[in-house]
Amino acid sequence: MKVSVTLGDITKFEGDAIVNAANCTLLGGGGVDGAIHRAAGPKLLLHCMTLGGCRTGEAKITPGFKLAAKYIIHTPGPRYTSMTPDAADEKLRDCYWNSLTLAEQNECRTVAFPSISTGIYRFPLERAAAIVARTLSEYAQTHDSGIEEVTMVCFDQTTYEAYRAAFEKEELGRPGARVGISR
Ligand code: APR
Repeated sequence: MKVSVTLGDITKFEGDAIVNAANCTLLGGGGVDGAIHRAAGPKLLLHCMTLGGCRTGEAKITPGFKLAAKYIIHTPGPRYTSMTPDAADEKLRDCYWNSLTLAEQNECRTVAFPSISTGIYRFPLERAAAIVARTLSEYAQTHDSGIEEVTMVCFDQTTYEAYRAAFEKEELGRPGARVGISR
């Protein structure tokens, strides 16, 4: 499973699935959630209204509607100040793990993630990036899944550099890891 890090707008991603850093209502919000709902169009909200929300760390899938991506995987990340750091770490890991599981179940080969919880939910960036690197690596080690590439789509340079550094460290720290950083 290749992992790449790019700088850009996740709503422009042309792969199979994009992940949305949602909230538990799944009814839209600011940040990347707002951008995805605007780009996907009003049918996304109508569809989400039938889903009954989503618990933090869990994930639900919808069509991409007007997006280039076929699917949107909605996962509410942890609000950092609303739980202990260890609990927040675990919920953040669950977001990525459960989103990858859903992507695999829906035969997605390419999946894009935003930096879940590091915006409005104030999860410390470097801490999040290290958790994401480890989670992706462990998922790749334990699944012979059809997911060929995971792309972290970062919206600003600081976020981009934090994920690049975390992924390089993870790859270097785990010789033979099945997570290769594509350059
Ligand atoms: N493409 C990629 N990344 C984006 C985009 C975009 N178009 N817009 C914002 N981001 C980035 C932010 O810069 C941040 O790095 O997504 C990351 C996550 O930030 P938020 O969107 O604030 O998400 P989060 O911290 O998980 O907070 C979720 O915010 O939008 C509401 O409804 C959402 O209540 C929920 C909360």
